[in-house]
Amino acid sequence: MNTGCADFYSDTQTLPSRAMLESVVGVRTGDERHGACPTTNELCERVADLFGMEDAVFLPSGSMCNQIAIAVHTRPGDEIICSRESHIVFAECGGLAKLSGAMVSVIDADRGLFAADDVSRLYRRPSSFSPRTRLVVTEQTSNLGGGAIWPLDQIQAVSRTAANLGLSVHMDGARVLNAAVATGISVSDYASMHDSAWLAFTKGLGCPVGAVLAGSRDFIREAWHFKRMFGGAMRQTGVLTGMCLYALDHHVERLSEDHARAKRIETFLSGCELFSRVLPVDTNIVLAEISADAGLNAPELRDFLAKKNVQVMAVGRDRLRMITHLDSDDMAVDRLFEAMETAESLK
Ligand SMILES: Cc1ncc(COP(=O)(O)O)c(C=O)c1O
Repeated sequence: MNTGCADFYSDTQTLPSRAMLESVVGVRTGDERHGACPTTNELCERVADLFGMEDAVFLPSGSMCNQIAIAVHTRPGDEIICSRESHIVFAECGGLAKLSGAMVSVIDADRGLFAADDVSRLYRRPSSFSPRTRLVVTEQTSNLGGGAIWPLDQIQAVSRTAANLGLSVHMDGARVLNAAVATGISVSDYASMHDSAWLAFTKGLGCPVGAVLAGSRDFIREAWHFKRMFGGAMRQTGVLTGMCLYALDHHVERLSEDHARAKRIETFLSGCELFSRVLPVDTNIVLAEISADAGLNAPELRDFLAKKNVQVMAVGRDRLRMITHLDSDDMAVDRLFEAMETAESLK
């Protein structure tokens, strides 16, 4: 545990606990790129089951899951429909264009959650001159949507509409377990009618490395081709995937504690004059818009808080993002409140 840490920059900031580290002493491992790591194979089977899909592959990062899925689903020149604020658009260095030659058609959706009608509207009917619309990408939960959960009927309507139009659907499920724990709806229900989906082990689950991408057997066979091409094939990954198995057994139900702390932060910030709006909190992400008369912008407030040993993320000039996680306890939340009060008193 990262003790004394008031680090709300991201849920990626956790350190592996002693119990997690001890769980991999003596773990069974082998060369994963030859399918010879029993622990990695076990993890892939468990995640494929969670998603209700046939097969899965272990990868070093969530970004690589997205980029490989895009590479499998599209051909150069194809178009992807997604939210403007999706991770594949704002945080993967334009990889979809560089690695797959794909382009995007983005939706300005409230909290990142678009509707089936948006897909129908942006879909291009085949013609001799237009790009081929090929893929729809959902993000459960929506990171820059403030951890918003896609309602089940909405995400299913999106994937059904896409399927009816002959499109593939991929889920960036970095935090799909947060959604599942918050609602009690299964990961497989959220992923139904998706052709591929992945979940992260380095966020709420508290592992140092790893994500698992799931899909049909054919999809995963193709995914392996790009895993090797992109340099994501590894060797004795049991020491990593053993920690992921530990996290599946010990760190899933407790995500509700992170959600409760994020709610506390939402309530506190809603009464704070520094902010004009706090997005409704569904899970572990709090996104707050700085008010016009706060006297400082988001990067300035971030820097002020950092001097008080409280870390947050500035999203552009107007928004502050805070994420709760395994290593942010109630004392850390209290420290965030104290630092915010000091910032407010200077207003
Ligand atoms: C929604 C979402 N997708 C993808 C990623 C990328 O995951 P990674 O950091 O493992 O590449 C992140 C990381 O924060 C994320 O929040």
